[in-house]
Amino acid sequence: MDNFYLQELIEETNARGGGMLLNFQDKPAVVVLSIDRYNILLNQMQNTSTLSFGETATLTRTRPVKNMVRQKVLVTGGAGYIGGHLVRELIKAGYEVVVLDNLSTGRKDNIDPKAVFIEGDLADVSLLKDIFASNNFEAVFHMAASLEVEESVKQPLAYLENNVANIIKLLGIMNESGVRKIIFSSSAAVYGEPEKVLISENSPLRPKNPYGSNKLLSERLIKYFCEYMGFKAVAFRYFNACGFDTEARIVPTHQSHLIYKVMQVAKGAQPVLEVFGNDYPTNDGTCIRDYVHVLDIVLPHILALQKMDEMEKFEIFNIGTGRGSSVAEVVNCASEVINRIIPMEVAPRRAGDPAELIADNSKLLNQLGYELKYSSLENMISTSWQVMKDV
Ligand code: UFG
Repeated sequence: MDNFYLQELIEETNARGGGMLLNFQDKPAVVVLSIDRYNILLNQMQNTSTLSFGETATLTRTRPVKNMVRQKVLVTGGAGYIGGHLVRELIKAGYEVVVLDNLSTGRKDNIDPKAVFIEGDLADVSLLKDIFASNNFEAVFHMAASLEVEESVKQPLAYLENNVANIIKLLGIMNESGVRKIIFSSSAAVYGEPEKVLISENSPLRPKNPYGSNKLLSERLIKYFCEYMGFKAVAFRYFNACGFDTEARIVPTHQSHLIYKVMQVAKGAQPVLEVFGNDYPTNDGTCIRDYVHVLDIVLPHILALQKMDEMEKFEIFNIGTGRGSSVAEVVNCASEVINRIIPMEVAPRRAGDPAELIADNSKLLNQLGYELKYSSLENMISTSWQVMKDV
């Protein structure tokens, strides 16, 4: 199949309201649903001459694909740890990417050089208007936010302004520009202290700090735009993001998290790991969290964009593994993987830490159709060590 034929398909598909059956060698091979689908098909065919659909149908490309219709997306916060990984994966998947980041915590080096980088703040309405006027975006991945829980308790108003007021501006400008798809980085912090160990998307929402409240308010604003202004949106509630794509040259941008601290002790930059409480009602008395690899966080974002046309106007997915690890288990695993002793000492409980937070991830797996690939504790620790031993 050559590109000329695929270009014709766009027109045909549009003329038929976005869907048609494609025959190959006189057999039905694939249903082309929309331009989005066409782009996915084309992206996939860039790297391979043969594509399989299900068990029976195969398409074979006979000439190189040229003039690909590339979708352009905006990633706010693309210089951060998760944003940097997302930008790289988007580029690998064939998207054109524009990054908006004020570098308050993000790092320019974290941005894939193939992305267009705009240094600026979400609060800058005229900049946002310019960006949307000069680019034809398919969708926005909104990752920019202040995200330190303790800081949010000390500066609730600043957090509200940066995380919630700015999203209203962004959504308003998206609406004016006719860009009505958004994929939003939310957090398990919206749940607060859970009633049941496995937290599903329908669990009670009782955030315990301004950061979690900000994320919940933002989700509700996005839902409002979906209900009344024709937006389509996905909010992902991340559990404990960690691990690295070691080929991505991305460095951590936040220093309060457990695995960051464990790495500091492992490399001798800190003498001992403080364990915040060992009297929780868990097997070993330390808190349990659902640690999930950053690639298993960003890849579902791309899948969500590709499937968005077939989805409800507003969907929420937990991103976690459904498995918990205690602080002691993380430290023990790190000692084994790195082959060093990691000294620990018990410190008082940290305010606001729930004993156990584990995702029910069945919606991510069954409804979005994402299969976790990177999130063994060993892999998350070893990739963290490969990156952090030198930074
Ligand atoms: N911990 C220690 N010692 C440390 C650091 C952390 O014992 O030096 C413990 C914490 O008390 C907690 C666990 O390790 O029990 C994990 O703590 P992190 O700070 O790594 O992560 P949190 O679970 O507190 O929060 C993270 C993100 C939030 C997000 C939340 C969702 O920081 O933004 O996961 O579950 F909302």
